[in-house]
Amino acid sequence: MGLNILVIGSGGREHVICQKFLQSPLVDQVFCAKGNAGMTKDGIQIVDIAEDDHAALIAFAKGQQIDWSFIGPEVPLLNGIVDDFAAAGLKAFGPKKAAAMIEGSKDFAKEIMTKYQIPTGAYQTFFDFEKAKAYVEKMGAPIVIKADGLAAGKGVVVALTIEEAIAALKDMLEDNKFGASGAKVVVEEFLAGEEFSLLAFVRNQEVYPMVIAQDHKRAYDNDLGPNTGGMGAYAPVPQIPEAMVTEAIEKILKPAAAGLLAEGRDFTGILYAGLIATEAGPKVIEFNARFGDPETQVVLQRLESDLAKIISDLLEGKVPEISWQKTGYSLGVVVAADGYPGEYQKGQVIPEFSEGNVYYAGVAEEDGRLVTNGGRVYLVEASGATLKEAQTKVYQILDKADTAGTFYRHDIGAKAIQK
Ligand code: AMP
Ligand code: GLY
Repeated sequence: MGLNILVIGSGGREHVICQKFLQSPLVDQVFCAKGNAGMTKDGIQIVDIAEDDHAALIAFAKGQQIDWSFIGPEVPLLNGIVDDFAAAGLKAFGPKKAAAMIEGSKDFAKEIMTKYQIPTGAYQTFFDFEKAKAYVEKMGAPIVIKADGLAAGKGVVVALTIEEAIAALKDMLEDNKFGASGAKVVVEEFLAGEEFSLLAFVRNQEVYPMVIAQDHKRAYDNDLGPNTGGMGAYAPVPQIPEAMVTEAIEKILKPAAAGLLAEGRDFTGILYAGLIATEAGPKVIEFNARFGDPETQVVLQRLESDLAKIISDLLEGKVPEISWQKTGYSLGVVVAADGYPGEYQKGQVIPEFSEGNVYYAGVAEEDGRLVTNGGRVYLVEASGATLKEAQTKVYQILDKADTAGTFYRHDIGAKAIQK
């Protein structure tokens, strides 16, 4: 009998994680709660239980004899799902709530970075609008304003002028636009340089880094438009030198894992460092306590080893065997509903694809066809010997598809290819 696995989450990130698990000879069945209708094409069994219904998820895991669960998104981690599964005698891969706070509070993350000398921008934390305003006026622009709590990627304002910074402070501290997440704000030094994402499998002080990726957070071509959850990604990132990555592993990931352990907040799960390659080396702009979306859809294509075996080994205290492809690139482009990240329509029929990997997110099934049902709808991924080859393949697939009612960026990977 092979492994039965339950994955929590419903997006493209969870789709690729489930697909990788199903590719393992060790795995029998993969369930995803709540999953999405597009996942069933790949043999993933979707389970209609909400990710915050811990009691129902625990009952399901017991009933289906799930060997272990994998938690995709941050919200259940910060709701303490791993703590609740452990209390019920169930194994789940992901940090407990106390460790997931590295993502759940930007102020807490900054305290850890300060205490363990992890390179990051200078900052101060404020509850009071007038004090925050005075600090911004003293520091000048550009400057970055961040809501302390979770805000689905929307709680960060990179202000190019002091006026913009003050308006953001007012939204968060005076007008409560971000609710409790924005009752406390971190005002941070603007860091200039190229951005990259470095993720690792972590078990206490052990850190097993992945290949690096680059996300594209703005909605439109040439990094214009509003910030989104991510419009496309590629891996690895050729213009970031190997030495920069090594430095980030040694000075950022390892001290972060060791620091959390020393604080009694032992971290087992995926640790994600959002970094800027500055002239003075890599600096942290954020930590996440989980895989990134859409980074995962490209990073896991570079993994040679068996993902299910890695997670089993990490949960069982064994040393995992993890190897990455030495050559080649993977690139993924997100297709989003017109209007995203603002208001958008649902119910537009999605084309069928016969090439590339397609990872579904905001989709539903209607009369046997997939239709749009969310902001980010799906991602098309392809790999190639060069980044250009991977990019050309993805755009050839997308450009001939009927993508009415949706849009995608045309320049994913373009900056890296020009360099
Ligand atoms: P985050 O949600 O923390 O990933 O921030 C959203 C985006 O804001 C990031 O992808 C960066 O492009 C930008 N950003 C965040 N912090 C800084 C910073 N200190 N300096 C420059 N850009 C930043
Ligand atoms: N793509 C950015 C994130 O997952 O946070």
